[in-house]
Amino acid sequence: MKITVIGAGYVGLVSAVCFAELGNKVLCVEKSSSKLDELSRGMSPIQEPGLTEILDKNLEEGRIRFSDSIKEGVDFSKVIFICVGTPQSENGMADLSQVEEVSRQIAMHMGEYKLIIEKSTVPVKTHELIRRTIKRYAREDLEFDVASNPEFLREGFAVYDFMNPDRIVIGVESKRAVEIFQEIYQPFTENGNTLFVTKTSAAEIIKYASNSFLAIKISYINMLADLAEKVGVDVDMIAEGVGRDKRIGRDFLNAGIGYGGSCLPKDVNAFIHMAENYGLDFGLLKETEKINLNRRKQFLEKVEKLLWINRDKKIAVWGLAFKANTDDVRDAPSLGIVKGLLETGAQLCLYDPEAMENFKTIFSESKKLNYVEDKYDALHESEALLVLTEWDEFKEADLKRIKELMKLPIVVDGRNIFNRDKMESEGFEYHGMGR
Ligand SMILES: NC(=O)c1ccc[n+]([C@@H]2O[C@H](COP(=O)([O-])OP(=O)(O)OC[C@H]3O[C@@H](n4cnc5c(N)ncnc54)[C@H](O)[C@@H]3O)[C@@H](O)[C@H]2O)c1
Repeated sequence: MKITVIGAGYVGLVSAVCFAELGNKVLCVEKSSSKLDELSRGMSPIQEPGLTEILDKNLEEGRIRFSDSIKEGVDFSKVIFICVGTPQSENGMADLSQVEEVSRQIAMHMGEYKLIIEKSTVPVKTHELIRRTIKRYAREDLEFDVASNPEFLREGFAVYDFMNPDRIVIGVESKRAVEIFQEIYQPFTENGNTLFVTKTSAAEIIKYASNSFLAIKISYINMLADLAEKVGVDVDMIAEGVGRDKRIGRDFLNAGIGYGGSCLPKDVNAFIHMAENYGLDFGLLKETEKINLNRRKQFLEKVEKLLWINRDKKIAVWGLAFKANTDDVRDAPSLGIVKGLLETGAQLCLYDPEAMENFKTIFSESKKLNYVEDKYDALHESEALLVLTEWDEFKEADLKRIKELMKLPIVVDGRNIFNRDKMESEGFEYHGMGR
C-alpha cells in the first residue's frame, strides 16, 4: 500500500519506518528542516532501539522517503496518518494548533477520496473538528473519512511495540474506512492480532483513559510508598504482593520520583480539562497529578535532609531521561529536581547515556552544572549520588568503584534500582523511595 505519514516525531517516524518495513511505500512529511536533513542522511533524530537500522534499510530499498510538502503527501496516498504534536497548552488543555493546520493543508490539496487518520492523541470529538475543517477548505464534491487510530507505543520500545501491538484500536464511522484499515493492518491480523473497531469518539477516549489509568497506578504505589516509609516496610514487597493479583498486575507499580515524559502528564491534564468541558470533575485524576508532582518535592526534601545544607556540595546525578532507553526529557522529573538542587546552591555533575544533549537545550550553561561522558566521572569527590532514571547501565554499575570515587557514599535512589541489603553491605548509606 501507499501510506502518507505527517510528522516525523516519536510516533510519526516510528510508524512510517515500520509501515515501510512491512512492505508499504511510505512518504513521511516533516516540516522541520533540520530533522529532514538528518533523515535524508539516514540518521534518526530520535534515539529508539532498532530505529536507525530499519530506517537505513528501507531508505536503501526505496520504500520510504521524506518531504516537507504536505501537497506531495496528499497526492501520494489515499491514506494519511496525522502524527503531529498535541502538547499541553497554558490552560492545561491539548494544544491542537498543529492538527488544525495539517487538516487545513490536507483539505486544500485534496483532489480525490482520502482516509484521514488521527494517530496523534487528541481530545474526544476532535475528529468532528477535523471533518468540519476539511469540509470548509476542500472541494465540495470530495468524499473523505476521518478516523482515529491511537498509538500505544512506549518510548524506548517504540519499534518493538509498533511491530508487536497488544491491541489495534480503530475508531471509524464508515465501512469504506474499516476496509482500508483491514488492508493496512493485514500483516498484523494475519499473525493473529485482531482490530478493535469502535466509534471514533470511543477510540479518542480509549487513548486518554489508558494513559490516565497507568498514571493512577503509578501514583497509587507512590501513595503507598509514603506509608511504607512511615511504618518501615519496603514498598517493593507491597507492590509484589498486590501485583500478583492478576486483576491488578505488577506492571506500573514501581514507586519512585513519579511519571514524566511527553504523554502521561499532558494526557492526564488534558483528560481532566476534557471532563470539565462536559461538566464532570475527574477528581481521581487531580489527586493522581498532585501525588505525582509531590514526588519531585519529596525527593528534594530527602536529599536536603540527608546533606543538611546542599550549598557548594558536589552531587552526582545519574539519569536525566524521563525513563530508560530514550533521549526524551520532556516533562522529566529530572528537570524539576535539577532546578531545585541548583536553587539550593549545590554543585551538580550530570550524566545520562542518551539524554544529555536534549537536557542541555533546556538548562542554560552554569558553573554549577557540569556534564560528563562517563557515569563514573560524575562521582569524583561527590557527597551524594542521585539516581533519576532506571538505565540498565546504572543497575549493573561497579559498586566498589562508585564507593571509591565518592567523598561520602550516600546514594539516593529515585527509581529503587539498587538492592538495599547489597548497598548497605558494600558500605553505602542507601535511601530509596518508600523503602
Ligand atoms: N511520544 C510518545 O511516546 C507517544 C506515544 C503515543 C502517542 N503519542 C502522541 O502522538 C503525537 C505525536 O507525539 P510525538 O512524541 O511523536 O511528537 P513530536 O513532537 O516528537 O513529533 C511531532 C512532529 O510533527 C512535526 N510537525 C508539526 N507540524 C507539522 C506540519 N504541519 N507538517 C509536518 N510536520 C509537522 C514536528 O516538527 C515534529 O517533528 C502526540 O499527540 C502524542 O501525544 C506520543
